Amino acid sequence: MSSLTELPQIRYEDPLVRIDWQAVDRECWWLPPQLLSLAGVPEFEQLTVRARQQVSHLEYVHLLEAGLWLESQFMGRLARLAHRSADAAHRARFLHEVREEAGHSLMFVELLQRSGYAMGGERGLGTRAVDLCGNLLSSRSALFWAMVVIGEELPDQLNRRLRRGAEEAILSAVVYRIADIHTRDEAMHCAFAREQCRQSAARCPAWQRALLAPALSVAIDLYARYVYFPSAAIYTRAGLAPARLWRARALANVHRRALVARMLRPTLEFLNRSGWRVSSRYCPQH
Ligand SMILES: [Fe+2]
Ligand SMILES: [Fe+2]
Repeated sequence: MSSLTELPQIRYEDPLVRIDWQAVDRECWWLPPQLLSLAGVPEFEQLTVRARQQVSHLEYVHLLEAGLWLESQFMGRLARLAHRSADAAHRARFLHEVREEAGHSLMFVELLQRSGYAMGGERGLGTRAVDLCGNLLSSRSALFWAMVVIGEELPDQLNRRLRRGAEEAILSAVVYRIADIHTRDEAMHCAFAREQCRQSAARCPAWQRALLAPALSVAIDLYARYVYFPSAAIYTRAGLAPARLWRARALANVHRRALVARMLRPTLEFLNRSGWRVSSRYCPQH
């Protein structure tokens, strides 16, 4: 691995002690209303504020569950990279990121425990496919780093928009703090993943990238669907019935689809600039 980004001199602070956990509150929004998968759907907008807030809690819980799964993948890979690295600076870089991801996961678990929301444990086809790829792909491969970029950036896009909800003072203070800490750390993770993605794509022959790009496009769609369109089980847990009908409404929701396209575009553009001819059905104008 060449020219790793230098680790900036930052002081690590345990995120668990940076959050006032006494302030966990269910009588507020956990995601701004405009970020909900059903935002703008007339049947949904007619529900009471309390019912829609409950959906915001469960959609955020879904984001936490996606984060816990993804971070477990990253931590495993990063720990192995650190172990195999002969260079002390590289080793430190990887271990620092493991520590940050562990801190994020601990925040997620703490919020789930304190708020009384249980983990759903639903595993989709997409997550199983990524589990498999994550174990099979070499960390020197261009496909691996392209997938890391996608994995880091898609949830981060939602988290960045979530922080804006705090400006309207409607969002849970604890959720805002979690998103704030998370997005600050992720900015560095995403920059690092992009650098590795650029370098590994440049080393990868064009014919190989052309051959792998359709699989990468499928992975983007599966992952975008998983992150941005919660499963029917989430709506059930939020008290919306029949859940399958609500999920169908979310999938057909033009407001959601426009938001998803905006969230996907920066990542798709970056991958194309790096030599990956990828596209997504959720970002047709790209
Ligand atoms: Fe993270
Ligand atoms: Fe990360």
